[in-house]
Amino acid sequence: MDLQLKNKVALVTGGSRGIGAAICEAFAREGAHVAFNYTSSREAAKALAEYLRAKYGIKVFCTSADIGLEADVLRLVADTTHELGPVDILVNNAAICPKGPITAYSHAEWEHTFAVNVTGMFIATREVIARLQKRQAPGAIVNIASQAAFRGSTTGHLPYDSSKGAVVSFTIGLAREVSAQGIRVNAVAPGLVRTEMVAKTWEERKERYLATIPIRRIAEPAEIADIVVFLASARASYITGATLDASGGMMMR
Ligand SMILES: NC(=O)c1ccc[n+]([C@@H]2O[C@H](COP(=O)([O-])OP(=O)(O)OC[C@H]3O[C@@H](n4cnc5c(N)ncnc54)[C@H](OP(=O)(O)O)[C@@H]3O)[C@@H](O)[C@H]2O)c1
Repeated sequence: MDLQLKNKVALVTGGSRGIGAAICEAFAREGAHVAFNYTSSREAAKALAEYLRAKYGIKVFCTSADIGLEADVLRLVADTTHELGPVDILVNNAAICPKGPITAYSHAEWEHTFAVNVTGMFIATREVIARLQKRQAPGAIVNIASQAAFRGSTTGHLPYDSSKGAVVSFTIGLAREVSAQGIRVNAVAPGLVRTEMVAKTWEERKERYLATIPIRRIAEPAEIADIVVFLASARASYITGATLDASGGMMMR
């Protein structure tokens, strides 16, 4: 199936590792040019950029930018446009997931989780949509939500769960606002995916988790990436405002 993504420009936040890195590769495989940012994983980011350029012959722009800081997000979108051309596709992937009971969280930690997981998504999306509207171009936004938006976590991630609820609402509200302009907005809600974010918890509670997942295994990042790329593509032309369940049956809502 031709996803018609060749030469499109896709910006993926938090692409240095985990699901974000897999999303970058899935776009590269389709011939899209890829931009992504990182905060701490500089070496991994540089290595991924080199790998994608060499293997797929596409253009790659990667830069350090903290999604929790408005100035960094503005720079990320502006520099991506300058380096690769106007952004057609934005994937809001970067997120943090602190751990603890409600009484352990400070106001600052709550705010920081929302700054990265929600406000960063808002700023990046606003900037990309303003540019799409200015040139009257179609586009696609894909937000990475979580099953935790609907079911909460069993291991104490209240700010994260709440922030992912906001990601789902943002997806719906924005889809209503911009879909008539040819800008589709969707989300993916993964269950458990084999990345550093859940590695420790997965090892500690593997059997308990497996009992709740009808497919009886953890997802690989590439399985989530394929869904994201599909939602961003012309093949998903009649899907907007959706949050796709990619939880191996864990949710079944
Ligand atoms: N893994 C799962 O089971 C699972 C399940 C449901 C949903 N999700 C969602 O999937 C997405 C990716 O998760 P993951 O498991 O791949 O996480 P991960 O392995 O922890 O990777 C997180 C990525 O985000 C980047 N990042 C973190 N904070 C950032 C910031 N302030 N500014 C810019 N980049 C930042 C990291 O960059 P650096 O390395 O440079 O810090 C890294 O590239 C997240 O939205 C997460 O909530 C994951």
